[in-house]
Amino acid sequence: MTDRRGLFITFEGTDGLGKSTNLNYFSDLARQHGISIEISREPGGTPLGEEIRKMLIDSSLDSMNSMTELLLILAARASHIATKIEPALAAGNWFLCDRFSDATYAYQGGGRKIDDRIIVQLEKLTNVGLRPDFTFLFDAPPEVGLSRAINRGEPDRFEKEEMDFYRRVRSAYLELAKKNPEYKLLIDATQSIPAIQKILKKQFNLLLSSW
Ligand code: TMP
Repeated sequence: MTDRRGLFITFEGTDGLGKSTNLNYFSDLARQHGISIEISREPGGTPLGEEIRKMLIDSSLDSMNSMTELLLILAARASHIATKIEPALAAGNWFLCDRFSDATYAYQGGGRKIDDRIIVQLEKLTNVGLRPDFTFLFDAPPEVGLSRAINRGEPDRFEKEEMDFYRRVRSAYLELAKKNPEYKLLIDATQSIPAIQKILKKQFNLLLSSW
């Protein structure tokens, strides 16, 4: 337990670009430095959120309307923030999350073409002002990630989307990377694992020294 609020760090990008592997590498680094870490993912992260996640990725529900999708994602997020993220940060733990709000601007905003202003308004209700302290944004042409994701098994409802959807998601992510660059790091996900880990390590040291 520490008096300092923990750091909230998110890992973003289109599917299959190694976010989870890199998140695990980063968490090992932090643990080696004695930091208490909590790891989670979105959609999901709580028992309720994981139930919502099942509905969201269920490919038999491919007729799900975009607004239903957005509201389900935000409903899961509201529960995640209230019951897991905020308590962890208040206890001084670092909270590492595989996707958060940027994914909503990229997938529902860019991919599904929901007006960003709607997402901004709804987020005021669900996110209660919570923003990540830092975001790693993994980037590569969507073909690269999707072929990896699909090799992992039956594609889920998102992985079944056409390439144009993923191109829009990627451009939305790239736009987000330009905003507040001091809090976001764009990483070329086609690099080797050691090259990416070197970048993560450098950023970890910077975050630790300013915490
Ligand atoms: P995952 O496979 O990376 O865990 O995420 C499941 C899917 O959920 C992924 O294809 C992206 C999608 N998603 C959104 O569409 N909007 C969001 O806000 C989040 C967090 C995820």
